[in-house]
Amino acid sequence: MNIRCARPEDLMNMQHCNLLCLPENYQMKYYFYHGLSWPQLSYVAEDEKGQIVGYVLAKMEEDSEDNPHGHITSLAVKRSHRRLGLAQKLMDQAAAAMVECFQAKYVSLHVRKSNRAALNLYTNTLKFVISEIEPKYYADGEDAYAMKRDLVPKKSDGKEGECDPKTEEKDKASAANVISERL
Ligand SMILES: CC(C)(COP(=O)(O)OP(=O)(O)OC[C@H]1O[C@@H](n2cnc3c(N)ncnc32)[C@H](O)[C@@H]1OP(=O)(O)O)[C@@H](O)C(=O)NCCC(=O)NCCS
Repeated sequence: MNIRCARPEDLMNMQHCNLLCLPENYQMKYYFYHGLSWPQLSYVAEDEKGQIVGYVLAKMEEDSEDNPHGHITSLAVKRSHRRLGLAQKLMDQAAAAMVECFQAKYVSLHVRKSNRAALNLYTNTLKFVISEIEPKYYADGEDAYAMKRDLVPKKSDGKEGECDPKTEEKDKASAANVISERL
């Protein structure tokens, strides 16, 4: 299994994977909008034959110059390849690229209240927190949780900013899965 940055020629296969896995679907031009505007942020998982088995489609929010943050538009892994850690790796790669390329302070997303698998992934594994509930967010009337994951390493007193060397080492370790995980 290989995780790599998405290329323009992957976008149709990402859309195919999305259609198989999720009721939230997008026109091809929306994939191109992501791929052309933020080519560093979307990733695919491919199997040994080079077929796309998962993707994360990500962007930066455009209204946030003083508080730059990323947003996960869509994430899916084909049924045949679930529980292998692919979603976690795709999400970590996208978050790392948001920090490295755009100095993102946090990343946001929406998830259906009923999506147990994704909620487990976001809260337990990736340490997202619920920021608000958006009633009837989805076309079928289901509510969404709006979630955020902080991407700025915190000092031990909980504040952002420069660290003393010892704290910095600890912060680097705790932020390792966000910032420095390169496969
Ligand atoms: C949600 C989804 C992306 C997870 O992909 P995945 O590659 O299987 O996830 P990972 O293997 O990285 O899982 C990491 C952790 O998330 C949690 N998790 C993932 N799937 C889970 C499930 N079905 N039930 C409970 N917890 C789950 C577990 O804690 C898991 O760690 P573990 O396997 O060590 O227990 C996948 O199920 C999917 O594509 N679902 C349909 C599309 C979707 O819901 N996308 C999200 C929209 S917001």
